[in-house]
Amino acid sequence: MKFFVDTADVDAIRELADLGMADGVTTNPSLILKSGRDILEVTREIAEMIPGPVSAEVVALEADAMIAEGRKLAKIAPNIAVKVPLTWDGLKTCRVLSDEGTMVNVTLCFSANQALLAAKAGATFISPFIGRLDDINLDGMDLIRDIREIYDNYNFKTEILAASIRTVNHVTQCALTGADVMTAPPNVIKALASHPLTDKGLEQFMKDWAKTGQKIL
Ligand code: G3P
Repeated sequence: MKFFVDTADVDAIRELADLGMADGVTTNPSLILKSGRDILEVTREIAEMIPGPVSAEVVALEADAMIAEGRKLAKIAPNIAVKVPLTWDGLKTCRVLSDEGTMVNVTLCFSANQALLAAKAGATFISPFIGRLDDINLDGMDLIRDIREIYDNYNFKTEILAASIRTVNHVTQCALTGADVMTAPPNVIKALASHPLTDKGLEQFMKDWAKTGQKIL
């Protein structure tokens, strides 16, 4: 499973990229706001740092304007994936940009039927939002499972990019279900390394090592 980093914070991306933990990056208007940066400038900086897909989202709501914005974003770098919302205009935009050879990430997906439409519109990625389904007492992972089955039934090439990941358990479940990619905030990716038994075991090893009186360096 590929790891994308869901942030526009360049320092956080760099830290994960140095460890090989950033196969790509996803941003959205809320993350651009959080970064306090200009969208074109920060997207360019990220795309230069990360060879994998870097998603940048259009903000127009009507297809012609979305296509124009998408073309402008795609010009930033060859590894830009233009992100469009799962609306009818977003699907039209997906078809046009995909036919032009631009990667498209269709976002704000909350149903299997929406994912089916995105695949038929030629999306490179579909982004089901797991956490936001959990928020309204549905099981986000059920959606990932359904999309996996549908895409496999018909051999769709669109990659399932599990988004709105909030917990380390979401990451495990995505890997078990066969999501192609998961995108998570840096703190969730870093939390994957934590385990209380690792901390406890390390503490004991340090105590015992101190008693040996030895040094390695
Ligand atoms: O990738 C989508 C993500 O940014 C949304 O996450 O936690 O706001 O639902 P969240």
